[in-house]
Amino acid sequence: MSARINPSILSADFVNLERDLGTIATADLVHVDVMDNHFVPNLTFGPQMVGRIQTVSPIPLDVHLMIDDPERWAPGYAELGAYSVTFHAEACQNPVALARRLREIGARAGLAVKPDTPIEPYLEVIEEFDQVLVMTVEPGFGGQSFIEATMPKLSKLSDEVKRRGLDVWLQVDGGVDEHTIRAAARAGANTFVAGSSVFRNGEPAENIALLRAAANAEMLG
Ligand code: DX5
Ligand code: ZN
Repeated sequence: MSARINPSILSADFVNLERDLGTIATADLVHVDVMDNHFVPNLTFGPQMVGRIQTVSPIPLDVHLMIDDPERWAPGYAELGAYSVTFHAEACQNPVALARRLREIGARAGLAVKPDTPIEPYLEVIEEFDQVLVMTVEPGFGGQSFIEATMPKLSKLSDEVKRRGLDVWLQVDGGVDEHTIRAAARAGANTFVAGSSVFRNGEPAENIALLRAAANAEMLG
């Protein structure tokens, strides 16, 4: 399986989003960070904006909800056609019930955990999710440094997925660049979110290709 690269438009130019979306057409999915100023100390956009992004994006949407009360809001993102909808374990009373609802609507269901949240309680219900997002920075802002101490969590997830022969995508988000992507791929990640390293320097298409090559070098040997 080849590495998936999902550029995060948190690092794009919000008033030129259509233009910036056009520069990442060679990526796998566009990562859309929804923040509510409660679950995280930052605010981005909501369903109306994400619906517009959906209509102009050349690639499908990977929506990452950093919000309280995902039971109330997440289904709306699935209904507007997001390819995947990921909500945080810390914000959700019954992650399995919400994942089932998202799948019923037709989206891939994702479970996200912050750097200090243990993964063990979720391993036994891992088949209820299409992807698990291990945050490699504290959620809220782009441009932070990758937290290497989260890697054992990925290894545990990867072992469990392999042991049970499942096809659950393992995603990392935060501080992913050409160097840290290798550590994440070695630990078992196969889906990589990158904001700054795609948009901040040089050409996004070249940066996507470099990231993909670096991850594939680890994943495919
Ligand atoms: C942070 C967001 C990330 C962010 C990553 O809370 O979830 O998706 O855009 O940005 P970089 O790649 O710059 O760390
Ligand atoms: Zn994100």
